[in-house]
Amino acid sequence: MWTLITGAGSGIGRALALELAARGDDLILAGRTASKLEEVATKLRVEAPNREVMTLEVDLADPASTRNLAQQVTDAVDHLSAFVYCAGVGEPASDFASLGLIDFQEALAVNVSAPMLLTQSLLPVLKGGDPASRIVMIGAGMDKHAQPGTGSYGISKMALRRLVRQLSVEFDTMSDGPVVSLFQPGLVDTPGIRSHIEKAEKLELPHAEWLAKRLEAGECLTAEQAASALLFTLNQVPESDFHGAVFNGADLVDSLSFAGS
Ligand SMILES: NC(=O)c1ccc[n+]([C@@H]2O[C@H](COP(=O)([O-])OP(=O)(O)OC[C@H]3O[C@@H](n4cnc5c(N)ncnc54)[C@H](OP(=O)(O)O)[C@@H]3O)[C@@H](O)[C@H]2O)c1
Repeated sequence: MWTLITGAGSGIGRALALELAARGDDLILAGRTASKLEEVATKLRVEAPNREVMTLEVDLADPASTRNLAQQVTDAVDHLSAFVYCAGVGEPASDFASLGLIDFQEALAVNVSAPMLLTQSLLPVLKGGDPASRIVMIGAGMDKHAQPGTGSYGISKMALRRLVRQLSVEFDTMSDGPVVSLFQPGLVDTPGIRSHIEKAEKLELPHAEWLAKRLEAGECLTAEQAASALLFTLNQVPESDFHGAVFNGADLVDSLSFAGS
């Protein structure tokens, strides 16, 4: 049972890889920085020695590199039980006048074009059936909450939301299509959000202080909690409820701990 995770070298993707290995998945870890992927793979080989782990370096801002990743995956496996697109970027800008086209295009490339291209190129190994392959894209609450300086990130995540909607109707027209959902994690304490806050603080963006205070107060999920909620959607949610759904990480963590108490 193979799962592909992009952005597997840190944050939510890394935590998810560790959870999935514990449930018995073999893993393809894809990401930009080889050393981060190797760190996760080494840990997995110690903690889950019976699992197979592959690491594949990719720059998801580059379509050729993205296609190459898909080729390596389809050469290596016949079937993916899950594909989780965790990679994400979005540089803040101090104001609209300084919003850089390169940053804007990079966010659209990594957060929208790459998940589209990768899903399309992976179709030979993303199949329907019983059970169907499950695809999860990681969105962000910033899609609907426009804040000054967050155009690259928020606009691209809104487009990702629409991509998931589109994929769900496209898959419905296929006789043997996979299923797809969007996972909105909420605020999660990861290297990615800490780096975003640091940059946004330097630019004196109003949302930076609010995010920093929430992290400091622990009003956020850990990467492990977000990964557990995501795993719940992969493992426990019936296929008909999963397909086309938008899951909220914080709500799931609340309801799961309530159910467990
Ligand atoms: N943390 C939050 O509060 C939060 C809230 C809402 C949504 N999200 C979303 O959750 C997902 C995971 O984020 P995270 O918080 O776990 O952040 P993270 O620790 O920064 O993880 C993001 C991952 O994406 C990878 N990545 C970025 N650009 C890439 C590229 N061009 N090619 C390949 N990989 C690339 C990064 O690789 P490198 O480390 O090698 O650069 C990193 O592993 C993202 O989609 C993010 O937008 C997070």
